[in-house]
Amino acid sequence: MDQNQVLFERAQAVIPGGVNSPVRAFRAVGGTPRFVARAQGAYFWDANGKQHIDYIGSWGPMILGHGHPKVVEAVQRAVLEGFSFGAPTEREIELAEAIIKLLPSIEQVRLVSSGTEAGMSAIRLARGFTGRSLMIKFEGCYHGHADSLLVKAGSGLATFGHPTSAGVPAEVAAHTLVLPFNDLEALEAAFKAHGHELATVIIEPIAGNMNFVRASVPFMKRLRELCTQHGALLILDEVMTGFRVGLSCAQGIYAQAIPGFAPDLTVLGKVIGGGMPLAAFGGRHDVMAKLAPLGGVYQAGTLSGNPVATACGLATLNEISQPGFFEALGAKTRSLVQGLKAVADRRGVPFSVDSEGGMFGFFLLPELAQNYQEVMKTDGPAFNRFFHAMLDQGVYFAPALYEAGFVSAAHSEADIAATLAAADKAWS
Ligand SMILES: Cc1ncc(COP(=O)(O)O)c(C=O)c1O
Repeated sequence: MDQNQVLFERAQAVIPGGVNSPVRAFRAVGGTPRFVARAQGAYFWDANGKQHIDYIGSWGPMILGHGHPKVVEAVQRAVLEGFSFGAPTEREIELAEAIIKLLPSIEQVRLVSSGTEAGMSAIRLARGFTGRSLMIKFEGCYHGHADSLLVKAGSGLATFGHPTSAGVPAEVAAHTLVLPFNDLEALEAAFKAHGHELATVIIEPIAGNMNFVRASVPFMKRLRELCTQHGALLILDEVMTGFRVGLSCAQGIYAQAIPGFAPDLTVLGKVIGGGMPLAAFGGRHDVMAKLAPLGGVYQAGTLSGNPVATACGLATLNEISQPGFFEALGAKTRSLVQGLKAVADRRGVPFSVDSEGGMFGFFLLPELAQNYQEVMKTDGPAFNRFFHAMLDQGVYFAPALYEAGFVSAAHSEADIAATLAAADKAWS
C-alpha cells in the first residue's frame, strides 16, 4: 500500500486539494504528492519510509539542511522560555540588527510572519508614503497572494493556467500594471504614461517563481533610475534570494555592477526564518517612519517577531555568516547544475542552467529564458517525465517547471554524484 496515496486521499477529504499550498499537490506533474514523515540534513523520508535528496528545502528556507544542530539547540532553548508573548523581546532587536548589518539599504526593518504579509505591507507602505496608488509588477514574478498581486502572477497560478485569481475585485487589480520581465521598452513606455501616478515597482531581482531568470543589469539600472526620477519606490522582493544567493543578497550582486544601487524597500522571508514562519520588510528610515505606531500606515501581527521563530532565524543567519559559507555553497550548486548540463549534453537533451549561491534553475531549453514567455516554451511533458524519473530514484526536484531549486550546506558531493547518475538514467 502506498502510504503517500493513503494520506493524500485522507487529506483531500478535509483540506481543499489535500494540501495547504497549491504547488504541493503535484497538479502540474501529476502523481501522488510525497508526504514528509521527517527530514535530516539533505534528505527527507516520505510516508513509505523512502529517502529523497531534497532540492526544495521548504522552497528555500533550509539553507543549512534539515535539523542543523545549532539551529535545533537555539529553538529548543527558546521554546523553554515561552512560545509567544505579544510583547517585545530582545531577540527581535537582535534579528533586526543582524539584518541591518548585512544589508546597508535597510535602515529599519519590521518583522512579520510570511512573505505574503511582508510584500503586502511593503506595498501599502509605499502607497502611504507616496500618496499614490498605482503599482508595477512583472509577469512571472510572485510576491505572495495579496489581492493586488494576483494579476497574471507566476508559480502556482501559472501552473494551473489561470491568468488571475477569482475573488480579486477588478477595481483592485486595476491598480496593478503587469509588464514583461527584462523588457526595457515596455518599462520606458509604462513610466512615460504613468510615472507620475506610480507608488511603487516591485520585482524579484532573480525571479525564482518562473524557474530562475535574472533581471539583466541594464534593466535593473534603468528601473532604479526611472523610479528615482518619478518618485516611485523600488521594492526588491528578496523573499527567495535574500541570504540565499549570497550574504549581501541579490541587491549586493547588482550593486557590484551598478554603482550606488539600492532599493528603497526590501522584502525578506524564507532563510531569515530558517524554516519557521518569519519574514520582514525594511528600508529607508524616512519611509519606515510612516508605519504605525509612528505614522499613518497601519500594519500589525499577533505572532510578528515570534520568539521561537527569531531564535531559529538568528541561529541560521549566524551559521551562514561564517567565512567561506557562500563560496562553498555556490561551488557546490555550480557543480550540480554544470554536472546536469554535462549529462544532458551527452544525452542530447536541450538544456540550460544558471545558479547563484544556493539557488539554481534548469530549463529544458537550449538557451536560458529571459522572461515568462520564454520559460513557457519549455516542453512540459518532457519536464514531467524527467521529474518523475528523478523522483522514482529518490531525487526530489520542484514539482513544476516554473520553480527554482535549492542546494543546502548539508548536500554532499556524494548526493550530487547520485543526482547526476539518476539524471543519466532518466535520460537514457
Ligand atoms: C519571491 C517571493 N515573494 C513572496 C513569496 C511569498 O512568501 P510566503 O509563501 O511566505 O507568503 C514567495 C513565496 O514563495 C516568493 O518566492
